[in-house]
Amino acid sequence: MTLLSPEPLQREYFDWSEEEFAQKFVEKISGGRLKQSDTYVDLKIKKTSSLQKVKTTYQDLTNLPNLVKMLPALAKDPTPADYLRSLNNFLRDNRAGDLMHWYGKMREGTKTPLFGSADIVNVCNLKCVHCYWWTNREATAGELTPEQWRTVIQNSFKKMKIANVTVVGGEPMLRKDVIKVFSDELKNRISVVTNGMFPMMDINGFYFVSIDGTEETHNRIRGPNTYARIKKNVQEFVGSGGSVAINMTLNTLNYKTIVDVLHEWDDIAGRISIQFHTPFIDNDPLWLPFGDERNKTIDSIMEFSRTENKHFVINSKEQFELMRGNWGYKCPNWMILPLDYKGNIKTPCCMGSASENALQPHCDKCGLAPYSGLLASMFPIEKAMTN
Ligand SMILES: C[S@@+](CC[C@H](N)C(=O)[O-])C[C@H]1O[C@@H](n2cnc3c(N)ncnc32)[C@H](O)[C@@H]1O
Ligand code: SF4
Ligand code: SF4
Repeated sequence: MTLLSPEPLQREYFDWSEEEFAQKFVEKISGGRLKQSDTYVDLKIKKTSSLQKVKTTYQDLTNLPNLVKMLPALAKDPTPADYLRSLNNFLRDNRAGDLMHWYGKMREGTKTPLFGSADIVNVCNLKCVHCYWWTNREATAGELTPEQWRTVIQNSFKKMKIANVTVVGGEPMLRKDVIKVFSDELKNRISVVTNGMFPMMDINGFYFVSIDGTEETHNRIRGPNTYARIKKNVQEFVGSGGSVAINMTLNTLNYKTIVDVLHEWDDIAGRISIQFHTPFIDNDPLWLPFGDERNKTIDSIMEFSRTENKHFVINSKEQFELMRGNWGYKCPNWMILPLDYKGNIKTPCCMGSASENALQPHCDKCGLAPYSGLLASMFPIEKAMTN
């Protein structure tokens, strides 16, 4: 049952200016990581001189194909017109201006988040075997009302000129009222990550639907009969003109099905984002260890992209190279501002918690796509950043 919190809403960051917010958030989230792991490298942004600026701008430009690949809602087999449409869509609503604002800060040597995530709901209709969210879920509900979310959005993501917010949970489609507020407040800047069990409605943004294998494997992970219902919902939404990407988290139960998933879904969904299971406990049997099996899986995905459909898989080659091993010690977790279901800041990342006592994800075995994608793709990070 969803309980709505009646108290007037106040969060400490409501009173912070944009500069204070960036500084306090980056300190908080980096400080948490420094305590957590000896190997953590807090990437320092290098302030660039005029000459270096020319060099780094060149490096950023050479990385443009990876950035373009990440453009939202790009069609399955994009024509030049599709690229232009997607770019035009991206430039609308001052998003390009905000991106330049962020880029300028980075080149001045100031870290500030570029993306956000919000767990808008404290319940879920499924109990998937691999799910991090159930690990730290607080039993007390106290969800925010749509208007309280509007206040949170205005004082967090909008204040920080965030480029895109992932709306997640629990299952976000259980709170369509809140999704509507996000869609209104952050036009074309939201992605809703859903288990696909509910019909999708039009929003100013796009959907990622989680698929965790071919039918039998998916149902083993996500519950009986879930696959057929999700597939039907995606087909109906796509049939009515909607655009959907899928998201698959590879673990020891499902990694062997990935190529079949690619073949089955590349006719149905626009794109797929692939990530690896991140453990919260030692010896988690779902974690696919670094080494042969993991490498072969990555090779098979890259082979599919090379020989069958170069547009379907969103992840770049550079991101897959990172995901073969431990990249988490240099995770740019400060680039994403994650809020929990009460609008509190989570650490160390969107899989974490606002509570200090919560179980933490194991960064040295992390497989999350958004953060490894940022490390690999936003700019040639190893060259533009130093320690
Ligand atoms: C927590 S779910 C919330 C949104 C929605 N309920 C869904 O299932 O898509 C967000 C995504 O995180 C993935 N996920 C869950 N546990 C994970 C873990 N331990 N490591 C990596 N990804 C995980 C899920 O498969 C899903 O794609
Ligand atoms: S549907 Fe999403 S939030 Fe719910 S249990 Fe599955 S992965 Fe977790
Ligand atoms: S995204 Fe992964 S590496 Fe980064 S803070 Fe979270 S668990 Fe650690």
